[in-house]
Amino acid sequence: MAKLTLGNLDVRGKRVLVRVDFNVPIEAGPFGRLVVSDDTRIRAALETLRTILEAGGRAILISHLGRPNGVPSARFSLAPVAKQLEALLKFPVKFASDTVGPAATAAVNSNTDVVLLENTRFATGETRNDPGFAARLAAFGDVFVNDAFGTAHRTHASNVGVTHCINRSAAGLLLEREISYLTRVTETPERPFVAILGGAKVSDKIGVIVNLLPKVDSLLIGGAMSYTFLKALGHSVGSSLVEYDRLDEALRLLEVAGGKIHLPEDHVVAGHISNDVDARVCEVIPDGMMGLDIGPLTCAAFKGKVLSARTVVWNGPMGVFELPSFAAGTQAMAEALAMATENDAVTIVGGGDSVAALTRGGYADTVTHVSTGGGAMLTFLEGNVLPGLAALSDQD
Ligand code: 3PG
Repeated sequence: MAKLTLGNLDVRGKRVLVRVDFNVPIEAGPFGRLVVSDDTRIRAALETLRTILEAGGRAILISHLGRPNGVPSARFSLAPVAKQLEALLKFPVKFASDTVGPAATAAVNSNTDVVLLENTRFATGETRNDPGFAARLAAFGDVFVNDAFGTAHRTHASNVGVTHCINRSAAGLLLEREISYLTRVTETPERPFVAILGGAKVSDKIGVIVNLLPKVDSLLIGGAMSYTFLKALGHSVGSSLVEYDRLDEALRLLEVAGGKIHLPEDHVVAGHISNDVDARVCEVIPDGMMGLDIGPLTCAAFKGKVLSARTVVWNGPMGVFELPSFAAGTQAMAEALAMATENDAVTIVGGGDSVAALTRGGYADTVTHVSTGGGAMLTFLEGNVLPGLAALSDQD
């Protein structure tokens, strides 16, 4: 990677300001205490933190959680994250109850080696990339490490602004690994290269489709976004979700794809979204019914493509996988990726829903790489610059 990395950064005796993405789900646990319900992103940062500590540095951690819009609240506090981090790291973590105020200053000046500051988005300056707020954050570090891949597509004070106020800014091990996998699959994929895209909206994925089409051998499209393509081709889609303002664009993409785009050939349909409805499988969606998952023929066809691939990238579910009646298509893709990985294919999964489906099916450890980024991964796959990466120091 052309950017400075943690491996080439001298951290001994230094305060290392580390931007992590601890934007994790929080829920009420026993006795109403707020607890982290999925610590995947915290675990993903441990390697970088241990590396800094072992090299004799102190880690001053900064992160956002949720979208509190500059208003502090217990609901978006990183306090439960500090507890979970301490348990996972097996090392004391000092939590500062503000981000750049007296509590943060005291914590940074204490003799604790790991400090977590309160949610950066409690300050209005964070999402505005305010230089004053960035300078106050940067004053807590001698060097900066960005390990927050999930936030790399944002231009905020804690990942971009700080780099203008600090001498050396490097990529952490997680950020480096994410970029290296995504670069490998998009620039030098072993073929056949198959991409699977799903989710609700075509409009969210147009940039990705345009950028990936020339690179992939096959692009499998499922989820509600497939109904816009099917409608554009003149198929009957009943009351399925369709983006009518994207029909022309969908048709144009199908034309330029030269047969690389594969759409569902059958569907699991129902009158409305509920587990109690009478779901059935059909090839032509009748009026009044909506497609809510890919059908068994499509599962088999998509699985066949995945199993013959050497490289697979997957982002977005194949249906309303949260409901068991419409989860089979997404589960089939998770299973196919696990099998492809066993056959030595490189498999990468990103996006909250696909990762959740993978985890639910017990396949999270069976693919090559599970990305911690949803929006960041899509931005990369669109071929766009990630501001959080671009802002880092160049390699010496
Ligand atoms: C994410 O969960 O995708 C990242 O943490 C970024 O969060 P954001 O979409 O609120 O900026």
